Amino acid sequence: KSRKRKLLFEVNEKAAARYFDFLKNNEKGAEAARKYLQNRGIEDRIVEKFRIGYAPPVEAAGWNFLGSTFSQEQTRAAVETGLLVDNKKGGTYDRFRDRIVFPIFNIAGQVCGFGGRIVGEGQPKYLNSPESAVFNKSNLLLGLFQQKESIRRHNRAILVEGNFDLVSLVAKGCENVVAPLGTAVTREQLRLIKRFAEEATLLFDGDEAGGKAAARAVPLFLAEQLAGKVALLPGGHDPDTYIREFGLAELSRILGEAKDLPEFVLGRLVEQFGLGLDGKRRIVEELVPLVEAAPSPLQRSVFLSHFAQELGMAVEQLEQFMAAPRD
Ligand code: GTP
Ligand code: MN
Ligand code: MN
Ligand code: MN
Ligand code: MN
Repeated sequence: KSRKRKLLFEVNEKAAARYFDFLKNNEKGAEAARKYLQNRGIEDRIVEKFRIGYAPPVEAAGWNFLGSTFSQEQTRAAVETGLLVDNKKGGTYDRFRDRIVFPIFNIAGQVCGFGGRIVGEGQPKYLNSPESAVFNKSNLLLGLFQQKESIRRHNRAILVEGNFDLVSLVAKGCENVVAPLGTAVTREQLRLIKRFAEEATLLFDGDEAGGKAAARAVPLFLAEQLAGKVALLPGGHDPDTYIREFGLAELSRILGEAKDLPEFVLGRLVEQFGLGLDGKRRIVEELVPLVEAAPSPLQRSVFLSHFAQELGMAVEQLEQFMAAPRD
């Protein structure tokens, strides 16, 4: 079993090296990809730091770019990690073609899988490695291997949604950043962060999806007893577009204004339901699970007094409200 894992890591490592080499050294075949990265502000230093590569298009390298240098055993392993796909004629072809590829490292620095973005427009925009014996998306964070020392120094991790949010922020000097792999934040990911920092700030896209994703992460922070804050970007920006338009200082200001979790949750509920009598009743209903998830009696009373004050109620009244039977 461990021999098998070793083999899977070995083919991932080899693939990362070949994608990286193609991006750097293939004069013509990777020209558009290099230009694309340059246009997005991703300089060589960042390409090297994250070992960003390019999976060539069929026109530049055929259908079996990776397979052509693998042994038979490696080819089977590469099919298992999803780098190669079996065709109907007993051969294989490349899963990733004409994509910028981000190797996804575990904290030991082993390549577990890849995330690939199409160069320019096209569908799907992102393609990830399928789950395998070495790739479990919910247990990994993009950028953690590279940025963990910075996260430790700041005692805080900033969580962004996307691959380019991560590399763009690091390129501009905001270093303590990680990204989940295009899925909801998980408890395992928060546990990983806790190994390096006591706090995390969610810096999500300024759209409905970003707000929802942040709200869904709140109970996980409470369960893991990780201190959290939420910063939402204005006007449909994501961290990448925001820092490129307004710069690091302005992004730091947004991060400085990040809300504590209870404040964030209550703010959303007030926007949704309003502060009329019926609105308050609905808000209190929604707050019950949050208060119940408080990891300690102290935290519970901190939540209760915060909510009571914001809702213009006495704490006793709020507790009564919360205890009332609901249907
Ligand atoms: P860019 O245009 O590269 O900046 O991406 P984006 O800002 O539109 O990414 P978005 O905010 O939509 O998504 C954030 C993350 O979700 C991405 O980095 C991906 O990991 C993931 N994601 C986005 N689109 C897709 C998709 O079509 N398929 C999959 N599997 N994941 C996606
Ligand atoms: Mn998108
Ligand atoms: Mn989005
Ligand atoms: Mn983006
Ligand atoms: Mn985005």
